[in-house]
This record gives sequence, C-alpha cells and structure tokens, in this order.
Amino acid sequence: MNDVKPRLVISTGAGMSAESGISTFRDSGGLWENYNVMDVASADGFARNPKLVHEFYNARRRDLLKALPNAGHLALRELEKYYDVYIITQNVDDLHERAGSSNILHLHGELMKVRTIEEPTRIYTLDEEHIETTPDSIDADGNHLRPHIVFFQEAVPNIERAIEWTQLADIFVVIGTSLAVYPAASLLHYVRRGVPVYYIDPNPAPVSADVTVIRKGASEGIAELTRILEENLRGE
Ligand code: OAD
Repeated sequence: MNDVKPRLVISTGAGMSAESGISTFRDSGGLWENYNVMDVASADGFARNPKLVHEFYNARRRDLLKALPNAGHLALRELEKYYDVYIITQNVDDLHERAGSSNILHLHGELMKVRTIEEPTRIYTLDEEHIETTPDSIDADGNHLRPHIVFFQEAVPNIERAIEWTQLADIFVVIGTSLAVYPAASLLHYVRRGVPVYYIDPNPAPVSADVTVIRKGASEGIAELTRILEENLRGE
C-alpha cells in the first residue's frame, strides 16, 4: 500500500470561527462596523493610542476564552487521517490548535501571545488567568509588551512560508474569508496549475471560474468537501 498522503493546504479566515461565536470583520455586524480598523489594528493607531489597542485585544481575548472549536475545526483535524493537512490561517484565535490540527501557520499573529516592543523575538504565551495587558505591562526585564498581532502597515513575516506551503499543495481549500486583505488573499495565485481549488463561504468573494465554490457555512461546507474528496480518492 502506498501511504504517501496527498497534501491538502487550507487557508482559513474569520468565517472559519464564526460558528464558534467569534465575530468576523467585514460582515454586517462585524468588528469593523463597530471599530475603526486604523485606530485599533494599525501601527499608526498603536503609536497614537496604545491603551485603546490593548483594550481592543483584551476584549478579543475575553471572547476567545468563551469560544470552543466548532464542527468545522474538528472536521479539518479528521482530514489528517487521509491527507497531509497544512492550515494557513488569518485568524488570531487558537481554535485550530485546540481542535488538534498539527500544522498551523498564523499569518496575522496570535491573540493569546504578546511580545516585547524592545525585542520582538521575545514572545510570551499569556496564561488564561491573566489575559489583560496595558501600555504599562512589562516582562521580568522591564521590556514593554504589545499584542503579538500583525497590525496593518506591518510586514507579514509568515507569508514566505505560506507561499511555500501553497506551492506544494495537491489540493487547495479556502474557507471563510472575504479575500480583501493582502498578502493573504494573494496565496491563490501560487497554487500550481491543475491543482483543484475549493472555496467554502456562504457569501463568497468573486473568484475565477476554475475554483469550485461551496456556498455554505464552514461546518456544513467542510462536511460537503469531505464527501467530495472521499469520492475523488475512491475514484482514483
Ligand atoms: P472578513 O470579515 O473580511 O470575511 C469573513 C468571511 O467569512 C466573509 O466572506 C463571510 O461571508 C464569511 N463567513 C461568514 N460566516 C461564515 C460561516 N459561518 N462559515 C464560513 N464563512 C463565513 O474576514 P477575513 O477575510 O478573515 O486582519 O479578514 C481578513 C483580515 O482582515 C483579518 O485577519 C483581520 C481583518 O482586518 C487583521 O486584523 C490584521
């Protein structure tokens, strides 16, 4: 028996976590309807009013601690039985980790981590009892802490690795993203020619005709994708 598994690369956005009760950004009622993105999620905004930015991410952490992985996250974990699954996520939550997925790359940072402003390679994971940070929060050496989030106007350090993963995909899947934010949205351009591409989203952004769109929410859409992939595996 040949036990080399096909490589399934999955790019997820906020819609992946919507069924866990985490707000998306650009849907009606989404976070960017209630907050000015450049105030709370940009480098300039952080320089101007760090307190507001800390408060914004404190609130996101409180929401995250109330959330659980949904059936979609768990189904992606299950796909590891048949595929080498690589997840590239724009999400800063840890729901793919908590669902047990093995290979996860965060493009926009991680909510439960902070790093020091003075030495950005000093990264700390917050413990669940102490999730609140302020402009006065410091580490043991007196360095100031900031959210481990990629703000708008900052580089996306993991994009190179994400492109490498994408170029190696045998199957590529996009789930729950408006494809509005670059460079994440550009990953689709790095998929090799002939590789099947699926896009699961109840309100998908326009994509080229060779992408199979599954116009459903994440958990239902992933169940459908799993059926399609099973049929394809059996048909081979
Ligand atoms: P958006 O809020 O832009 O898009 C969310 C997508 O999820 C939309 O296409 C919705 O149709 C879809 N959606 C809603 N409910 C869904 C469900 N139950 N199942 C599946 N899909 C659903 O979020 P992103 O595209 O992830 O960055 O946003 C990208 C980046 O913009 C974020 O990472 C964040 C934001 O500003 C930073 O803050 C750095």
